[in-house]
Parts: sequence; structure tokens; C-alpha cells
Amino acid sequence: MKSIAIVYGSTTGNTKEVAEMLKAELKDFEVSLFDVANRPFVELAKFQNIILGTSTWGAGDIQDDWELAINDLKATNLAGKVVALFGLGSASGFADTFVDGMGTLYDAACETNCKLVGATSAEGYGHSSSTAVRDGKFVGLAIDHDNESNLTPSRIAEWVKAIAPEFV
Ligand SMILES: Cc1cc2nc3c(=O)[nH]c(=O)nc-3n(C[C@H](O)[C@H](O)[C@H](O)COP(=O)(O)O)c2cc1C
Repeated sequence: MKSIAIVYGSTTGNTKEVAEMLKAELKDFEVSLFDVANRPFVELAKFQNIILGTSTWGAGDIQDDWELAINDLKATNLAGKVVALFGLGSASGFADTFVDGMGTLYDAACETNCKLVGATSAEGYGHSSSTAVRDGKFVGLAIDHDNESNLTPSRIAEWVKAIAPEFV
């Protein structure tokens, strides 16, 4: 069975909850969850497939534990590995910095030589601006669990269906 590491940073538990939902949805894979607060980067060597998730705090800041660990991520060689991203935020509360943390994660992941997959449509969220939108698409899965938790399961299911064939 193919294996996937999910590394998340979560302050009030929402991103952790979505990481657990992703694990449940990725039924055909052996999924291991890691809290970035525990600095799991050495362990990532064992995985060919990695999903990184963060929430956004302040005004567009990456989640605190990720902030402390982001240089460790940048220094990790993920050459040959497949990486997908997800980000949590609030489009109505923070319309102009919606899921910006995922944009920061994207920039860091770009320094690791990995293959990034899982960009999604930026339609249907009600935000006005996001650094996680590049070339018109979100760089990963955007989740507004604060205001649209009813959509979270279908957003996860659709994304998993799209990215599953990318994993090696
Ligand atoms: C003080 C504060 C600042 C926030 N800033 C942003 C922001 O700039 N952009 C955004 O999309 N969401 C923002 N959020 C929403 C959080 O990202 C959202 O609540 C998320 O689900 C928290 O996930 P976590 O519990 O895993 O950390 C903010 C929330 C709070 C309470």
C-alpha cells in the first residue's frame, strides 16, 4: 500500500480535524499524521507522498508552529517526492488574506525540489485576495471551516479524488 505523511499546524484544532478527515478519505493509502510542532522533517525521508496543511492567523500569517518550523521545511530535500497542500482560513472574516498561510507554505515547498500537485479552482469562496492564489488557482485545497464546515467533506472528497492518482 502506498504511504502518505500528513504534516499539519493547528492552533485551535481545525486544521488537525481536517487532517484527520483527509486521512479517513484517503482509504487506499497508509496515512501517518504529524503535528509540525514536533518537527517531523527527518521522518519525511521514509515517505514518497506528503501533504502539508496550515491555518492562517494574524493578518495573513502562517500558523505559529509552522512559523517556527518553516526554515526546517525549506532545508529539507524533498526531491522526487509528491507534495500537496491544504490551508484553512475564514473568507468572510479575512477576505483579503484568505488562506495566505498556504501561500507561505507553497513558497517554502518550492525550495525543496518536490513535485507540487493539487491546485484547485479559486471560485466559490467569497474572498477578495489571497497569496495562495497563483496563476488564478489556489495552490492546494482551501477550506473555510469557520463559515462553511458543511462544505468541508465534499471539498475534501473532491480533492482526494483529484490528487490520489498523482501519488506514487
Ligand atoms: C485572530 C485571528 C486571525 C485570523 N486571521 C486569518 C487570516 O488572516 N486569514 C484567514 O484566512 N483566516 C484567518 N483566521 C481564521 C483561522 O485561520 C481559522 O479559524 C482556522 O480554522 C483556524 O485553524 P486552526 O485551529 O487549525 O489553527 C484568523 C482567525 C483568528 C481568530
